[in-house]
Amino acid sequence: MNDMNGRTCVVTGATSGIGFETALILARSGARLIGVGRDPARCSAAAARIRDPAPGADVRFEIADLSSQAEVRSLAARIRDREPRLDVLVNNAGLFTFRRAESADGIEMQLAVNHLAGFLLTHELMPLLEAAPRARVVFVSSGSHFHGRIRFADPGRRCLYSGLSAYEQSKLAVLMTSVELARRLGPGSTIDTFAVDPGLVRTEIGAKDGSPIVRWVWGLRAGRGIDAREAAASVVWLAMEPSIEGATGRYWKERQVVPSSRRSTDPEACRRLWDLSDSRCENGGLHPRACCQPDRNWVHLSESA
Ligand SMILES: NC(=O)c1ccc[n+]([C@@H]2O[C@H](COP(=O)([O-])OP(=O)(O)OC[C@H]3O[C@@H](n4cnc5c(N)ncnc54)[C@H](OP(=O)(O)O)[C@@H]3O)[C@@H](O)[C@H]2O)c1
Repeated sequence: MNDMNGRTCVVTGATSGIGFETALILARSGARLIGVGRDPARCSAAAARIRDPAPGADVRFEIADLSSQAEVRSLAARIRDREPRLDVLVNNAGLFTFRRAESADGIEMQLAVNHLAGFLLTHELMPLLEAAPRARVVFVSSGSHFHGRIRFADPGRRCLYSGLSAYEQSKLAVLMTSVELARRLGPGSTIDTFAVDPGLVRTEIGAKDGSPIVRWVWGLRAGRGIDAREAAASVVWLAMEPSIEGATGRYWKERQVVPSSRRSTDPEACRRLWDLSDSRCENGGLHPRACCQPDRNWVHLSESA
């Protein structure tokens, strides 16, 4: 494994489950760890739980509700203000909602948090990723992407909403973003992107939904899953393992490259999703003039050749 001393890592959704365990391992390995969470009390508790076994850990939490694009931008601005570079970004935060809900920006909630938050945060932090000698962006996707379809005409799924289909769509979008980002960065980039399927993991993700049926079904299903610590070990491996440098744009499970769905690597669909995501983030100024310095960061990422 790479020596993580002196490296800076951002982990979203670091207050519980896979994200918390990922943050803990990274902090213990000597990285400067910036966890992201939406609730101040849960962030303080997570920071304390990390410092407990690792008293010297360099850890701080930033608070942001990632369903809000204004909060994603403000989070990125705070990180840019304090950090000269970023070595690892883990886009992990996610949720499942049985009933259709919308974010403050009027975007279907699972698309907003599971996909667009990571898409936007990655863009906003691109100057810091480019400032590192080598950087990695890890996108936490899911095997459920195999069932996913991007409903280009109705990504917010106003018509015939199914929570599960919306979740599957969002996890496919996460994977396609990793594939397309790798393509746009091009060969020879100092930034690698990896998408990962953590497997079925015993976390609270399904228990946080308001529906008792979802909680019950998830309780039965998650019981067969692996421990969050085990899942996090695979995520951290992607963040740290030297031998996979340059293997960008791939889909991983249990430290192996594994096949992903045909849709996830369709170049035309990946470009289309990118443009769609861009348009869903543009109100607050995703464009380079507004967020990326220097301009070239955005210019080469937004070309759709
Ligand atoms: N569990 C599985 O079997 C499984 C399988 C495949 C993929 N995944 C993916 O793994 C990732 C982590 O999930 P998990 O299973 O570890 O679930 P989890 O324990 O519920 O963790 C999700 C994390 O995301 C945070 N989060 C949710 N909505 C947020 C928002 N609006 N703003 C900021 N943070 C938010 C949660 O914060 P709070 O603590 O405040 O809730 C929590 O820290 C997700 O992307 C999920 O889709 C999970």
